[in-house]
Amino acid sequence: MVTVNEKDMVFHLSNGRISYLLYVMESGALGHLYFGKALNPNGNYSHMVEKAHRPMTTYIKEGDLYTSYEHLRQEYPCYGTSDYRYPALEIQGGDGSRICNIQYQGYEIRNGKQALPGLPATYVEDENEAQTLQITLKDTWRNLEVVLSYSIFRDVDAVARSVRFVNLGEETFFLNRAMSMSVDFADADYESVQLSGAWSRERAVKVRELDAGVTAVSSTRGNSSHHHNPFLALKRKHTTEQSGDAYGFSLIYSGNFLAQAEVDNHSVLRVMLGINPFGFQWKLMPQESFVTPEAVMVYSPDGLNGMSRQFHRLYRRRLARGFWRDRERPVLINNWEATLFDYVEEDLLRFAEKAKECGIEMFVLDDGWFGSRCNDKSGLGDWKANRTKLPEGIKGLSENIEALGMKFGLWFEPEMVNKDSDFFRAHPDYILQTPGRSQSHGRNQFVLDFSRKEVVDAIYEQMYVILRDAKISYIKWDMNRSISECYSAAYPPDRQGEIFHRYILGVYDLHERLLRAFPELLIESCASGGGRFDAGMLYYAPQGWTSDDSDAIERLKIQYGTSFCYPLSCMGAHVSACPNGQVGRVTPIETRGNVAYTGAFGYELDLNGLSDAELETVKEQVAFYKKNRRLIATGDFYRLLSPFEGNFAAWEIAAPDGTRALVTVTRMLSEANGPYRRLPLRGLYAEKEYHIQGRYNAYDAYGDELMQYGLILEDKSSGQIIDGSGGCEDFLSVLYEITEKQRDAGSVI
Ligand code: GLA
Repeated sequence: MVTVNEKDMVFHLSNGRISYLLYVMESGALGHLYFGKALNPNGNYSHMVEKAHRPMTTYIKEGDLYTSYEHLRQEYPCYGTSDYRYPALEIQGGDGSRICNIQYQGYEIRNGKQALPGLPATYVEDENEAQTLQITLKDTWRNLEVVLSYSIFRDVDAVARSVRFVNLGEETFFLNRAMSMSVDFADADYESVQLSGAWSRERAVKVRELDAGVTAVSSTRGNSSHHHNPFLALKRKHTTEQSGDAYGFSLIYSGNFLAQAEVDNHSVLRVMLGINPFGFQWKLMPQESFVTPEAVMVYSPDGLNGMSRQFHRLYRRRLARGFWRDRERPVLINNWEATLFDYVEEDLLRFAEKAKECGIEMFVLDDGWFGSRCNDKSGLGDWKANRTKLPEGIKGLSENIEALGMKFGLWFEPEMVNKDSDFFRAHPDYILQTPGRSQSHGRNQFVLDFSRKEVVDAIYEQMYVILRDAKISYIKWDMNRSISECYSAAYPPDRQGEIFHRYILGVYDLHERLLRAFPELLIESCASGGGRFDAGMLYYAPQGWTSDDSDAIERLKIQYGTSFCYPLSCMGAHVSACPNGQVGRVTPIETRGNVAYTGAFGYELDLNGLSDAELETVKEQVAFYKKNRRLIATGDFYRLLSPFEGNFAAWEIAAPDGTRALVTVTRMLSEANGPYRRLPLRGLYAEKEYHIQGRYNAYDAYGDELMQYGLILEDKSSGQIIDGSGGCEDFLSVLYEITEKQRDAGSVI
């Protein structure tokens, strides 16, 4: 998969579907040639090096007016040569100099892919699944070695990149900027796609036309954030969900990030992704090394859907890992939206009993079970059961839940503390703070200094005891505020730029230790909903709470946007009560179910408050999900109609072997006398005949009819648009089950 033309020093990474090309320039720096659809392996790519003599620049070689790095496409640009665009690397020596010039030293090709120390990363299970090219560069003046690592995957159209810096000299210096990847595209005729929002409206799809200057998204909050996701896509103007060039860049990291597209004044586009240089500075002592988080680059000629499917494939099976990766996830019920902090054990058992009757498999106890926790003002940090609420402790409660035939899950917020807690009273110095200065609170809580091992140890010990003694199959790992006043009293002044990153390494370390001690534990990540919904967390927690907004109509957008990078198997999606707690909307329970099916499914309400008819629906929903959850988790996902663009949202999950598909169509507002509507499907086999089962309608059609002509969104009995609606309901959703004829539905996936 990696070939090297030793004569011209061109490296070609290709899996037959995509190509990534770079070369060693005459000057010894590394240049970028191409990233996109696979190119002929025998090409001589030297014509792709575009150089022009440009005025008002600087040249690295005397007398040679074609040697401005500003006008050559770079592979890993650094500050201090003649490139005036933002660099991927900036260092600072003890002498204050920030100049750096990294020159090619050699390369190595290995089968497989290496793990990154202390960091989440994609992996392979057999070394033929990927090949890794490592290129070593060096700034000889500082004796800084820079090792660029590129892994190309055989079965997924992605290249994973990271960078290792080694100080081989005798002087200490600092990394001020150390991005995980940079690519200089030959033109800038792209639009960028970002996933941005805020609490309860995370990952909305925003498209911006690139123009001269910088287009960027980032986080400075210590978590990847509700506001921007560590993801960026590029598309051509004519690229759609289904066709055209689409590139995706995703950072496997949960802390501060920067994703940036810079268009220079000659229409060259530089895309880079990595730790946000804001607030970052890493001290590199002699013989020490630093490794960046991994960035994943995807190319697809099949539009944004094609790009997403590559991410889904890679992240579901080669980023998520462990016991739960391929297992069917339990249907769960969580008590938070029903009870908030106000409950005692009896309430919970009644709650769980009803859930069991409906076929729900796991009961999750949310916030409020520990210490003096009766509201958000106290208790965080004291991970011992509140015996007033839970007289038998977590051990007793979990055993009682298991006696009902359900699994038990528990909420933690390990990184946080309330000042009103025994833990804080014992360790007031354990929070991130500048001694003597005031600290801001968020939800009355303060951030523990997870850059310090002793702090992580103290939390680990408490969690370990509970997980060891009680029957806990799942934890919901929450994180309900961002970092402000980032400073660790335990580190010297010249290491304060490391704290944001060290903090997140501490978070990863705690995950790793818990999973090592309890390998069958299912972790669901959460950060006030989707405030840390990123690829980094997926390595430890194969599912995450997508958003605190559980309203089905709002969730259409949130889940649609999230699916740009993340697979359905990781999107926690629950049916909640109506009127909805966040937006006050009343939606049919069928709609709530249909939307929540496309994720890790569950409930977030007290079933005791439902009518008999609603309870019957819940039972049917649980049974439906159980029957289809493998298809939902592993099928190919197609976004068909965008809720950002119209009144309808539609998506499809198709079995890769074309035997089955589920199509969800949701109409947000009822409409009078609407047009005829057809929905062309994807991912079916043209020659197969299918049975289509809508809410009331059922008919047969061939795959080509369904893909070319489309699924009719019409209730044939009433003549109203959208199957079975009666036509006058807002927030109506219909789920179509499409099954290859003459096959047993249960046996085909
Ligand atoms: C956050 C989570 C919620 C719930 C509460 C508990 O907001 O996103 O799901 O767990 O905390 O305090």
